[in-house]
Amino acid sequence: MKLSVIGCGYLGAVHAAAMASIGHDVVGIDVDQRKVEALAKGIAPFFEPGLPELLTGGVASGRLRFTTDMTAAADAVVHFIGVGTPQSKDGYAADLTYVNAAVDGLLPYLKPGDIVAGKSTVPVGTAAELAPRVTATGATLVWNPEFLREGWAVQDTISPDRLVAGVPSAPTGEPSAEGERAADVLREVYHPAVAADTPFIITDYATAELVKVAANAFLATKISFINAMAEIAEVTGADVTQLADAIGHDARIGRRFLGAGIGFGGGCLPKDIRAFSARAEELGRGESVSFLREVDAINLRRRDRAVQLVVEALGGAVHEKVVTVLGAAFKPHSDDIRDSPALDVAVRLRGLGADVVVTDPQAIPNARLKHPQLTYVEDRDEAIAGADAIVVVTEWDEYRRQLSPQHASTLTAGRIVVDGRNCLDAAAWRAEGWTYFGMGRP
Ligand code: UGA
Repeated sequence: MKLSVIGCGYLGAVHAAAMASIGHDVVGIDVDQRKVEALAKGIAPFFEPGLPELLTGGVASGRLRFTTDMTAAADAVVHFIGVGTPQSKDGYAADLTYVNAAVDGLLPYLKPGDIVAGKSTVPVGTAAELAPRVTATGATLVWNPEFLREGWAVQDTISPDRLVAGVPSAPTGEPSAEGERAADVLREVYHPAVAADTPFIITDYATAELVKVAANAFLATKISFINAMAEIAEVTGADVTQLADAIGHDARIGRRFLGAGIGFGGGCLPKDIRAFSARAEELGRGESVSFLREVDAINLRRRDRAVQLVVEALGGAVHEKVVTVLGAAFKPHSDDIRDSPALDVAVRLRGLGADVVVTDPQAIPNARLKHPQLTYVEDRDEAIAGADAIVVVTEWDEYRRQLSPQHASTLTAGRIVVDGRNCLDAAAWRAEGWTYFGMGRP
């Protein structure tokens, strides 16, 4: 099928490349000339395992191209909207400027029978508001949220655990004939996942929009729940990692996303729970999700706690102490530093007067652009050399598995390690003479 993808950021670039890899003829369209040029050469503008191969393969096959020219959308029959919906500058609500611009830019090129599939994360009610503009061209609007995780984006796009589409409804609430047809077209688009019996939920606009924000709100709540338990563990001497293991064995709870530490960050969870709160307030149901404010507050407190641990470990002041921060990305397998708890901890330590050295396998270029005041060292061992304390804030394998306390001891005389992700073997570090501090574990 001929597809267009409007917006070639994380979501759009991966979607375009993945759709080409399953046989579609795809044009990716973005306003950013430099991004388009890189993508057209098969170069990924961000670090995402597997994406470079998909891009080069797609471009070489002729099934994948990128342009800034919206007229290229005219040939396509399904148009995906994958632009960003960042947090507004003046509040918690999502900024829909880019979604509106993408839809308006696309309108002149839509034909009767085309499908416009929104993938961006939007406040509930957005699709219903956009639909009349799309319908006036004879095209159909569907909302088709995306659940990909950075670091696993290619796999999540090609083999998702579920597909969701909000389609136009008849007055009965069931999909209208137009909605049924749109759902059939999407089944054709996602043919490998459909053939693999991936659950495909066809629903209305509001449900599809809510599924996405509800999923992210649930994940954020799960993380803040275990971090709240970490706070209790800290005053009782309990070990939150053992607690998570024990409750995680209950299949109704599950161990995933019970990793206590410095909390969640990135371009999605933090802004999505805030936008959800803002939208619920607008709908007069603020109290229904008022707990999300608490989820946010717990999350931010864990960064304070990590900083406090470093200060205490260094005798009450970090002034002129060398602190090596292992990690800058908001999570491993990513070079994304948006709302990164790791970098936040580094910046705060520097604000307290520490001599902060930051290292990360992928995120240094992005981190340096945003926080040029920090010192960055590419090589992990060089970064650790001479540190009074080391702080693990992103659980890359380079720090979690591949850095033994024995080896660290050869790099520095400092013997303090703060494990902001509870990812180290505390006993092994202690046995080597290090003073180990975890997040909610003794
Ligand atoms: C998240 C969701 O997991 C995806 O399903 C969703 O599609 C995506 O947002 C989105 O809306 O686009 P992502 O932001 O890539 O994906 O990252 P996650 O893997 O969810 O991790 C988010 C943050 O939570 C990271 O900072 C991570 O370190 C932290 N985290 C995760 C914890 O602190 N503890 C855990 O146990 C798990």
